[in-house]
Amino acid sequence: MKIVKLEEKTKIRRAAELLYNSKEAIVLTGAGVSTESGIPDFRGDGGIWEKYKPEIYGNIQAFLKNPAKFWELAQEIAPNLFKAKPNPGHYALAELEKMDILKAVITQNVDELHQKAGSIIVYEVHGNINRFNCLGCKSSYTKDQIMRKLKKEKKGGPLCDFCSAPLKPSVVLFGEGLPTFEIYQSRALAQKADIMLIAGSSLEVAPICDLPLYTLRDGGKLIIVNDQPTHLDKRAEVVIRHKTGIVLPLIVEKIKNMQQEQDGNN
Ligand code: APR
Ligand code: ZN
Repeated sequence: MKIVKLEEKTKIRRAAELLYNSKEAIVLTGAGVSTESGIPDFRGDGGIWEKYKPEIYGNIQAFLKNPAKFWELAQEIAPNLFKAKPNPGHYALAELEKMDILKAVITQNVDELHQKAGSIIVYEVHGNINRFNCLGCKSSYTKDQIMRKLKKEKKGGPLCDFCSAPLKPSVVLFGEGLPTFEIYQSRALAQKADIMLIAGSSLEVAPICDLPLYTLRDGGKLIIVNDQPTHLDKRAEVVIRHKTGIVLPLIVEKIKNMQQEQDGNN
């Protein structure tokens, strides 16, 4: 277990103060919040894109040309994805929503772990791995139907029972548009936010990596918790280079202490 150094403790207190005194705080999460649940991220050490080229495995044109490649990757990561459980980082964010400090979670993750941890207002800007659609007639399929099809239709990936077009999980691939409602809501929340907590994202993929700029432009502040540097570190109020599963619960604990002190003084 990585210990938290004094310098990070000071930053954790500062982050807790900013969130405790905020009015419209939101959190933007990336794959880094789920690595401690056993799901590899994309660009961290040992990330998925180190082994699978995104232009071949994560791109809509490549998918349409040869869905089998995508399903090869999906078969490798799906078991981890489907059996993963929320980690203390997810639970900490759900608690901050219950405390009416976080107004929403904007997540690039498709694993549904925020919802499983109890977060209610969650905008999945890159879709969700538990929903599957036909690219031809739009009919939808459940995860269990797909898993059964994957066993039977090994070659080429699962096809629609009705129109035989390829089936695809409702996750956004490179070259695809993002879900309108989630994008609209995320931009509006980012604009309104006085604090945006950013947890476990490399902030390298547009348009989501631009959301913090909406917050900064309207005078809001950023708190970044990430174990690698990001291009927005220099514009953040606080940068904590540590594991989200360790830091986020410590921030919640600090906020609770502040609340008790305040109640004690009243
Ligand atoms: N605690 C803190 N940071 C972590 C942890 C952790 N436990 N684990 C990983 N990280 C950091 C990594 O160092 C990396 O900087 O989280 C970041 C994850 O970045 P990415 O792998 O790029 O994931 P993300 O930012 O979500 O990617 C955005 O890119 O490929 C697309 O659609 C995919 O949604 C994804 C998007
Ligand atoms: Zn169909």
